[in-house]
Amino acid sequence: MRALDRGWDILKGGGPAVTACEQAIIELEDEPIFDAGVGSHLNREGKVQLDAILMDGATLKSGAVVAVERIRNPIRLARLVLEKSEHMLLAGYGAEQFALEQGLEFCNPEDLITEREAEIWSSRSGAANFGTVGAVALDVNGNLASGTSTGGTLYKYPGRVGDSALIGCGCYADNESSAVSSTGHGESIMKVVLAKTASDLVAAGKPAQAAAEAVIALMSRRTAGRGGLILLDRHGRVGTAFSTSNMAYAYRTATASGLFDIGP
Ligand code: GLY
Repeated sequence: MRALDRGWDILKGGGPAVTACEQAIIELEDEPIFDAGVGSHLNREGKVQLDAILMDGATLKSGAVVAVERIRNPIRLARLVLEKSEHMLLAGYGAEQFALEQGLEFCNPEDLITEREAEIWSSRSGAANFGTVGAVALDVNGNLASGTSTGGTLYKYPGRVGDSALIGCGCYADNESSAVSSTGHGESIMKVVLAKTASDLVAAGKPAQAAAEAVIALMSRRTAGRGGLILLDRHGRVGTAFSTSNMAYAYRTATASGLFDIGP
């Protein structure tokens, strides 16, 4: 709810969709329950490595960072890549160098590790547990944006990069079609290029909800992994679908709102 309010406040004030997505995702990264920012899953070495992306549907440019270890809110760094870099994706050391150049402070990598995640890692008891966060937004100027942030999968190999920060897989936004953010098993999402596939279906005339359901059906048919997505088309119509056991999401439009599986 806090994330929804934070994003909505930007849109209500006439602000840009990219800012609404960034601000909503900062709130989610700061919430330790999710696998993004603080509270992310630990990799095989017991470290947090974060991936994030922000995409602007007006220009089709995205800004993404992968395998960063010292950035508390990687979505802020993704925004800087989007707006201050000629590139679309920076990895590891280079991404962190860019953060320094842009004046974004480093955190201590240990600050990203919560007691819960440390215990799961030490006991090797963690079940597959997704918690990637994302946001999609349409602003008053008709611009769509989307963003996604994740700590990736539990016990991932160091340097493993999943779908989340890859344009077209974990995220896509095109003013002529829709904005999409995905969650779930990265390697499976990458196989079907989930976000772009959904966006293409909308561009071809499928309604938002039907497009969301169609890509999850495709993912189930062609891969062994599970996933979900949130989708917003250029008319502000919402689509959501998931094959995971649950997916918490919320939406607000000028005339309607909904909360699903958000918990207490
Ligand atoms: N969907 C998040 C990941 O697989 O990294």
